[in-house]
This record gives sequence, C-alpha cells and structure tokens, in this order.
Amino acid sequence: MKILVTGAAGFIGSNFVFYMLDKHPDYEIIALDALTYAGNLETLKLVMNNENFTFVRGDIADRECVFNLFESAGFDVVVNFAAESHVDRSIEDPGIFLKTNILGTQVLMDAARKFGVKRFHQVGTDEVYGDLPLDRPDLFFTEDMPVTASSPYSASKASADLLVMAYYRTYGLPVSISRCSNNYGPYQFPEKLIPLMIANALADKPLPVYGTGENVRDWLYVEDHCKAIDMIIHNGKIGEVYNIGGHNERTNLEVVKTILRQLNKPDSLITFVGDRKGHDLRYAIDPAKISGELGWLPDTSFDVGIKKTIDWYLENEAWWKNVMTGEYQEYYNKMYGDR
Ligand code: NAD
Ligand code: TYD
Repeated sequence: MKILVTGAAGFIGSNFVFYMLDKHPDYEIIALDALTYAGNLETLKLVMNNENFTFVRGDIADRECVFNLFESAGFDVVVNFAAESHVDRSIEDPGIFLKTNILGTQVLMDAARKFGVKRFHQVGTDEVYGDLPLDRPDLFFTEDMPVTASSPYSASKASADLLVMAYYRTYGLPVSISRCSNNYGPYQFPEKLIPLMIANALADKPLPVYGTGENVRDWLYVEDHCKAIDMIIHNGKIGEVYNIGGHNERTNLEVVKTILRQLNKPDSLITFVGDRKGHDLRYAIDPAKISGELGWLPDTSFDVGIKKTIDWYLENEAWWKNVMTGEYQEYYNKMYGDR
C-alpha cells in the first residue's frame, strides 16, 4: 500500500507517519509538506532514513507540483492533514486559510480523480459543528449535526468538508472524513494551548488564559487520533463522516492547573487576558459511530497522556526551543503583547 500523507511535518501528520511505519512496516509513505512555520523537518528526523519513507517539499495548492507527484508515484490512499491550523492566526489573517484549507484540498482531490486512488481521507475537525453551551453537558457533537463555523479557521475546514462530500456525490471520488476533538502530545507547535503553557511555565513566564478560562475542550492523545484514522482508511465506509473523541472534557483552567501542578510551578503564573474573538464555548464529541462500527476506543487517559506529553517536552527542549525562534517571537509579541 502506498500512502500520501500531506502535512506530515506538522504535529498530527508526523505522529501519523510514525504510527503507520510502526504498525504497517511494509507500507510505503510519501510525505508532502510545504514546511510553513508549523512544519519542521527536524520532526521527521526519526524516519528520514527509513527506506519506506520519502519526503517531498511542496504546496498542496500548487497544481503542477501535486499533479506531477501523483503521476509519478501512483497512490492507493491520500490522507490530507495539510492545513493552516491555528484559530488565532485565522482571526488575524484569514486569506491563507482559505487558500490552503479549501483550494489545496480541491487540488489534491482533482489529482486523486485524474490519477485514481482507492481512498481520499480528509482530516477534519469538530470545530465545524460550531460550539455547545456550557450549561448543557448532555449535548454532544454527532455526525448528523449541521455544519456551521465560528472562526475563519473552522469556516475554511467546513468548506473543505463540503467540497469533499461534493466530489463524492458528483464525481464518485472514494472519500471519507474524520472530525476529531483537540489533540495533544509530542511535536505540537507551542502556539497551541498545552505546549504554550508548558513552555511558559518552564520559563516562569505568565500563562495567558483567554477570558475566564471556563471554555471547555475535549482532549485526545494524538496517537489515539492516528489509530482512528488508520481504522477509517482500512475499514471505514466510503462517503461517511466519523467523529473522533474520547469523552475527556476539561475547562482551559483545569488543563493549565494540571500542567502547573505537574511542573511544580505556582498558580500565580496564571494571567487572565482578553478573550479570543468569537471564542467557542464548548466542544464535546459523541464517538458512538466510530466505536460501534469500527471498534475504536482511546487507549490513553488524560492523566497518562498529559504526563507523557510534559515528559516529552522536558526531554526535547531543543526541538521546541528551535521552533520558537524568529517568527515565533514576533507572533507572540503581536498576539499577547498588549492583550
Ligand atoms: P500543524 O499546524 O501542526 O501542521 C500542519 C502541517 O501542514 C505543517 O507541517 C505545515 O507545514 C503543513 N502545511 C501547511 N500549509 C501547507 C500547504 N499549503 N501545503 C503543504 N503543507 C502545508 O497542524 P496539526 O495540528 O497537525 O493539524 C493537522 C490537521 O488536523 C489539520 O487539517 C487540522 O485541521 C486537523 N485537526 C487538528 C486538531 C488539533 O487539535 N491539532 C484537531 C482536529 C483536527
Ligand atoms: P487552542 O489550543 O488554540 O485550540 P482550539 O482553539 O482549536 O480549541 O486553544 C484551546 C483553548 O485554549 C481555547 O479555548 C483557547 C484557549 N487558549 C488560551 O486560553 N490561551 C492561549 O494562549 C491559547 C493558545 C489558547
């Protein structure tokens, strides 16, 4: 089996490459990544010499590059992780989100149509369901809920999902979509909540919590997301959407306090800052479909996963310090400077 993994130098894409090469040592993985600020070749160091792994630098929205790659490689499966993925950046500058997340997906699907694939899997997000109220813990996102969106990021991901389903219905492209809750684990870029708080706490810098910190996210250890995608591309039904989440809801404040406790740092580092514009209140996945149809269940509890994640950041300081140079400092000052 030959699989194209786009966005493989990013957080979840790289973890997926590691998972697949380990689980299916006979599969061939070709990675396509533009190496934006969020992609780092250092992340793929462990597999660069694996003879079943090839890295190609390129933009998924570059039609010529994508078509040449499909023509020369002949893929069985495409798993599209490549995206602009940070809500705060999408609020500052939506344009690149539309280009990569929507047009890039279109280019990949056009190539998949022309050269043929057995499966085009779109890595989606639960943010396409909008948000849930804080006072209705009985409500969860299910696959049949209408797609709506709060941020330019989620709107671009929702648009891509609609386009994927349109290519299935109109052209018969063999697609599937997964919509996962918030991931955490090794190699996450320190602009997202958990690695940003770990990095700041280790430096005894303020931990910027948006608004009241009462917003709720449903956290899943990244390896459990990778396992779910592996199951979907092998046994998931074509033309279907699968939600992925492990019923692990926490307020942002709970997550931040857990990190501080594990690092032996004081709660006084917590600093409440201005809220995110349009800030979604609560995400919570109902994973009944993927559990019932494919037998997926998460393996890693939050208590174990957060400890593993913190240990990883402690042991891999060189990796995150390296990605936090240059553009990151500019970004940090712009986002948090006078918030
Ligand atoms: P990330 O930002 O860490 O990585 C994105 C990767 O895509 C980077 O390596 C980047 O270089 C690459 N990329 C960006 N634009 C590209 C382009 N035009 N062409 C080729 N490569 C490009 O993101 P992530 O957190 O790993 O998310 C991966 C996917 O999973 C995204 O589609 C995201 O929407 C989805 N997702 C993420 C989460 C989460 O919690 N992080 C949850 C659900 C779904
Ligand atoms: P984030 O990791 O950006 O993921 P998403 O917005 O896709 O859920 O943020 C997770 C939550 O943490 C979200 O409610 C915003 C909040 N947050 C902060 O309070 N402070 C921060 O510095 C960041 C990056 C996020």
